[in-house]
Amino acid sequence: MIPVTKPFLPPKEAYKQYLDGIWERNWLTNNGPNVKALEANLKNYLNLENFLFTGNGTIAIQIAIKALNLKGRKIITTPFSYVATTSSIVWEGFDPIFVDIDKDSFNIDPNKIEDAITDETSAILATHVFGNPCNVLAIEKIAHKHGLKVIYDAAHAFAVTHHNRSVFEYGDISTTSFHATKLFHTIEGGGMISTDTQLNNVLMSMRNFGHSGPEQFSGVGINGKNSEFHASMGLLNLNYIDEILLNRKKQYNQYLESLKNVHQLSFQKILNHTSYNFSYFPIVFENENITLSIIEALNKAEVFPRRYFYPSLSSLEYVVKQKTPISDKVAESIICLPLYHTLEESNIEMICDLIKKNL
Ligand SMILES: Cc1ncc(COP(=O)(O)O)c(C=O)c1O
Repeated sequence: MIPVTKPFLPPKEAYKQYLDGIWERNWLTNNGPNVKALEANLKNYLNLENFLFTGNGTIAIQIAIKALNLKGRKIITTPFSYVATTSSIVWEGFDPIFVDIDKDSFNIDPNKIEDAITDETSAILATHVFGNPCNVLAIEKIAHKHGLKVIYDAAHAFAVTHHNRSVFEYGDISTTSFHATKLFHTIEGGGMISTDTQLNNVLMSMRNFGHSGPEQFSGVGINGKNSEFHASMGLLNLNYIDEILLNRKKQYNQYLESLKNVHQLSFQKILNHTSYNFSYFPIVFENENITLSIIEALNKAEVFPRRYFYPSLSSLEYVVKQKTPISDKVAESIICLPLYHTLEESNIEMICDLIKKNL
């Protein structure tokens, strides 16, 4: 069986050594030494000024929205993302205003953002879809012109750089996910990044119930922290990340090489000046019927790609219906092909052959 993804697992013995340390110190959570070490190592590896480790990527988005103290109730966002992007907006009491995506990058189309801005708009929350950076410079210009805050859902964008800078450092706040299925993971986990020291302090306090000291509270907060056990997995996985990234690139290029001349398929276009992480291999078919027939053929051979992202978020029953035809069409016709560290060359060859044969 070939699933769409498999979590990377480091050697069990190495993880046990981290467990020994936790047992010795009897310090399980609440900003322990492993959490601090992970944050320091990530700042170093990704070349970041700040990094805050969180319980998951969803709580990171929710805290980011809360921390910006937004006045207008409407947040411009993308309909083509995982549901957590939209649900976090609604959970925080804001209305998502969907702006359609660009058909090649699968990211929010900056050319359509200004038409959606009203007096009630306070922020833009966009996703770097499959790790492909949004047009961050165009979005920054629009945000600046209209006095809007910018949050990036960078759940897929670990180790991606744009103009030689971590993509995590664009926008007022970026959030990420270290869920088990991600390229770099801490089993469950995530992070918040802001280069603004004051905002970073607000995020830090909100992550920890609003504490500003042991018996002081600077505002409302929530439990957004993560544990020593999760940090240990991250510390260990960081030792393998270069190897994982390199392998991804090879696997991605093998898919691309094998499928690039197939007329009925299209691929995601990665933004210029980007060093990409090859975190997903999405392909788009001409229509939903073809997509479903290919999924069926792959499933018969015990290969399980994923319809990701599907459905388009503008169709969720708890949002006001809005027209996003490009997102709807991409969501209907896209699949992500299997991609994980232990996926073999022969597996990729077999998957590509099956797709070509059944088209
Ligand atoms: C684009 C996107 N945003 C947010 C999330 C939520 O992250 P988490 O599962 O860590 O809460 C995910 C991951 O599942 C995601 O893919």
